[in-house]
Amino acid sequence: MSAYVITGGRRLHGSLDVQGSKNSALPILAATVLVNGRCVVHNCPKLSDTECTIKILRSLGCSVRREGNTVTVDATTVSCSHIPEELMHEMRSSVVFLGAIVGRTGKATLCAPGGCEIGLRPIDLHLYAVRRLGVEVDECYGNITCRVKNKLEGNKITFSFPSVGATENAILLAATATGTTTIVNAAREPEISDLCAFLTSCGARISGAGESIITIEGVEQLHGCEHRVICDRIVASTYLIAGAVTGGDIELKNTEPVHLNAVLPLLEEAGCNVSVRCKSIRIKNPVGLKRIDKIITQPYPGFPTDSQALFTTLTSVAKGTSVIVENIFESRFKHVPELIRMGAKIRAEGRVAVVDGVPKLYGAEVFSPDLRGGAALVVAGLCAEGVTTVNNVGYIDRGYEDFSDNLSVLNADIRRV
Ligand code: EPZ
Repeated sequence: MSAYVITGGRRLHGSLDVQGSKNSALPILAATVLVNGRCVVHNCPKLSDTECTIKILRSLGCSVRREGNTVTVDATTVSCSHIPEELMHEMRSSVVFLGAIVGRTGKATLCAPGGCEIGLRPIDLHLYAVRRLGVEVDECYGNITCRVKNKLEGNKITFSFPSVGATENAILLAATATGTTTIVNAAREPEISDLCAFLTSCGARISGAGESIITIEGVEQLHGCEHRVICDRIVASTYLIAGAVTGGDIELKNTEPVHLNAVLPLLEEAGCNVSVRCKSIRIKNPVGLKRIDKIITQPYPGFPTDSQALFTTLTSVAKGTSVIVENIFESRFKHVPELIRMGAKIRAEGRVAVVDGVPKLYGAEVFSPDLRGGAALVVAGLCAEGVTTVNNVGYIDRGYEDFSDNLSVLNADIRRV
């Protein structure tokens, strides 16, 4: 697998357009299966995860064309309701196809997505939601078979945890069910609102997107539409932190600053100057970083778990001790041993990491443990003294479009080997 070789110590400066959101593009591309027509999705990032999603669409019988960041899907000829096992294993979040496939074909077969590097990733809430709408679910030896008993009927779905994926599957299945579905304790992430905006453009009738209670009035069928995916708030936070740890001056354009309401104040607490103007965010850090008292990951609108690894890197080179609590996933500190190899002083126990900031990190050979942990190691390499090699960058390719090219444009010394 490829690696990034980074020579640290250069201040990052300049401006960058931030890519479209991976976690919005995936459910929206899955939602096109529900549409008996043609959908045009703009600002769809080129990632291994989006390319895997396109492969699944084609395996279901859709015709898909990508031109730059625009993906056109014609799902008129959807004929299959099975997600190939190798594609499920390639991307476990393919489980978001479940609601769309059952909604369109009345059945679905897929292998249990299984865990990943950051946790067990159960799908009990997904299966609870589809059962509530009239779907029979059989789980046998890791295979899941779903079939609509009589017809899809709206119902009340109450989640014990505001799961993003389960909320997406519930919305997708309810969109064309008969009657009204009310989702209680729904996830409130911006990607949920973006999915609902896409479905509404296709004729769905949804209210409460972005709130804890979402109501969906099922419609007979959905028609094609054109939609632009929102900016990726986690990728935006990644570039902001790259600017912060290198003492740089970076401006991000085409962002949605409101989606970073839980992130920007922590960057200011760390001593950064953050200025927001319309769709742009500018960060400067001329005087070095200070500790952040507590970083506690929560469901949106709380601090996002996907930015936790990046803040672990930032606090590693801040003055003082910071405390990080990871409430969402059970093993999302795998980047910590790698940062320690670079000279960081971190004690991680269970869901808590205590970070004692050090004056500087030192280049080393490290290994990406997962998508966001890998990005955190690249950012550490940018501010470390000497050369850092980050291996297993395939993880990073899942979520970051043109990562090394963009960092090079911002004055980083990084190359992919
Ligand atoms: C989505 O994953 C994102 N992925 C994740 O981003 C993100 O970290 C996560 O939401 C939380 O924001 C995509 O959108 C493709 P969840 P998802 O269901 O939907 C437990 C990245 O880096 N849970 O909200 O899988 C689960 O184990 C990725 O881009 C159940 O117990 O997240 C976890 O502890 C990583 N049962 C918690 O809920 C279920 O049925 C949050 O999971 C479902 C989830």
